[in-house]
Amino acid sequence: MATLNIIYYTGTGNTADMAKYIGEGAENAGATVRLINVEEADESAVNADFIAFGSPAGGAEEVAPEMVEFIEGIKDKIFGKTVGLFGSYDWGQGGWMETWREEMINEGFSIVNDGLIIHLAVDDDEKIEKCREYGRAIAG
Ligand SMILES: Cc1cc2nc3c(=O)[nH]c(=O)nc-3n(C[C@H](O)[C@H](O)[C@H](O)COP(=O)(O)O)c2cc1C
Repeated sequence: MATLNIIYYTGTGNTADMAKYIGEGAENAGATVRLINVEEADESAVNADFIAFGSPAGGAEEVAPEMVEFIEGIKDKIFGKTVGLFGSYDWGQGGWMETWREEMINEGFSIVNDGLIIHLAVDDDEKIEKCREYGRAIAG
């Protein structure tokens, strides 16, 4: 059975909720899912068939430093892989995700469906379904 590890940073829980619903979608597509907080992750967190990384917009349209540091440490291990990228944001327009995507592509990764961004909390059916759909796309 295919495995998906979802590695995320979250400050207030919104990106963690995205991870949960993305995981549900992937499970519906038949994958075995692990949700891993990046603050508790070591290199073995990327030992899976599919991998997704989540980070909210922080700083000034920046990926969480914890996530940047983690990816820096494992990028050679999974060079060339297609990965999911996702995260929650508030007042911006998703600039952090555009930058993140470009950086990952420059590092040799491909990104599933250009990533998924959700405004603030995953608090309605449409947002939940977008997350589940993204999970199915990652694991499909
Ligand atoms: C210090 C800080 C910086 C932030 N910077 C941005 C930003 O540049 N652009 C944006 O759209 N939202 C920004 N936000 C809003 C968060 O991305 C938003 O609240 C998000 O839902 C947090 O996700 P989380 O619950 O997973 O931490 C920032 C929030 C904080 C606390």
